[in-house]
Amino acid sequence: MRVMSDPDVYALEMETIFQKKWILLGHESEIPNVGDFVTRRLGGDPVIVARASGGDVHVSLNVCPHRGMRVCALDSGNAPMHRCIYHGWAFRPDGSFFGAPVEREQMHGEIYEKSELGLKKAKVHIYGGMIFGTWNEDPEPFDEFLGDMKYYLDTLFCRTDRGVEVLGPPQRLRIRANWKGPGEQATGDGFHTLTLHRSLMEVGQMGGSGDSIYDSAPSMYGQNVSTDQGHGGRCIPPETIFATVIGSDIGKYSWEERLNLLPPPGVTPSMIPELHRHLDKGQIELLARSPLQAGGLFPNASFLFLYAPDVTGQFVGLLALHLFQPLGPEEMEFYTWFFAEKDAPEDMKQRMRAVGVQAIGSSGLIEQDDTETWSLMTQASKGFMGAQGTMKYQAITGEHTKPADWPGPGHVYDGFTKDDTQWNWWLAYKNALVL
Ligand code: FES
Ligand SMILES: [Fe+2]
Repeated sequence: MRVMSDPDVYALEMETIFQKKWILLGHESEIPNVGDFVTRRLGGDPVIVARASGGDVHVSLNVCPHRGMRVCALDSGNAPMHRCIYHGWAFRPDGSFFGAPVEREQMHGEIYEKSELGLKKAKVHIYGGMIFGTWNEDPEPFDEFLGDMKYYLDTLFCRTDRGVEVLGPPQRLRIRANWKGPGEQATGDGFHTLTLHRSLMEVGQMGGSGDSIYDSAPSMYGQNVSTDQGHGGRCIPPETIFATVIGSDIGKYSWEERLNLLPPPGVTPSMIPELHRHLDKGQIELLARSPLQAGGLFPNASFLFLYAPDVTGQFVGLLALHLFQPLGPEEMEFYTWFFAEKDAPEDMKQRMRAVGVQAIGSSGLIEQDDTETWSLMTQASKGFMGAQGTMKYQAITGEHTKPADWPGPGHVYDGFTKDDTQWNWWLAYKNALVL
């Protein structure tokens, strides 16, 4: 348990995992125009994520190379230039040095060329509109980092012609908890939904009901998926939702027919042909048979793709990303972005956002439960006795439970939710902690 609050472990994480790995920073649609920017953190360091002239996204250290002042003090905006408020050195959206005041007096000095005075740059990769950065000068290729998870994530973020867009700026809240609480939970803890989130089932927010939770809660059955990189998630058959919307005799429909009858949240029936253009047959089957509904992206991001009822009781569904930004061994900032397909009708976007706000994020029903847990785990790990305790991952299925007809890659654990994918997350964590 010591790893949940130890400052030395945290320092090592910053030096290894958060320097080496590709880290989620945001989504392209947050900064659609030249000059648009958001400020985020890459590991422990503040960065400016900006769209430069030419359209490329750049990630620059938000620390002035002059005397170390933070250059941009805003959360987001549009600026042709970022000017440090201390002595006025100015930088373009691509991080390059533009100039200093009193040019004729050479206030930026003569020792370094202007080309050497820019902000430090991180490497950038964009996948499904998601912006990833790394300080690693020789990072593993992004495709290797994403590995088998790509097959599954494509079904959420790369399935239509114009892709998805954020529905407004992210919700952000600070939680007095270590980032690994949500980190390991996101890769497959279905078990906690029975108890921690019991109230959600009692009010019909998770499919199932208060009476049936312990026997047959739909969230308990499905396939947990994980990859060697520590990514993972839970694929859950949306049978109850199909049954509610389509009727009980759903077995007679093919996967394609089911998708037509109940398209994934964000997709309208007229957009179904786009799914067939961007996804292969197996991915289409996955979306209809057992879509990836909740999962984690190593080390500190997660995604949700839930069918959830809106205030009128109609199933609308949501698509969201979380980021658990470490701010120290005992604190993080928790980001939530809501998404819909760019081409979804405006009223669908509004309904998806409303359902998202209702279910997850700062005021949502779900993470109210989780944030409390992550905080108390972190506090517990600081006690002399608590620090010596271990976390148990003994409900292990093993490696041989992938259904023979399962279309996707990776390690797949079929049936009742178990501990394998979370244990795999810790194995990836241990591997990544090496200097
Ligand atoms: S510290 Fe930024 S201009 Fe001096
Ligand atoms: Fe939860």
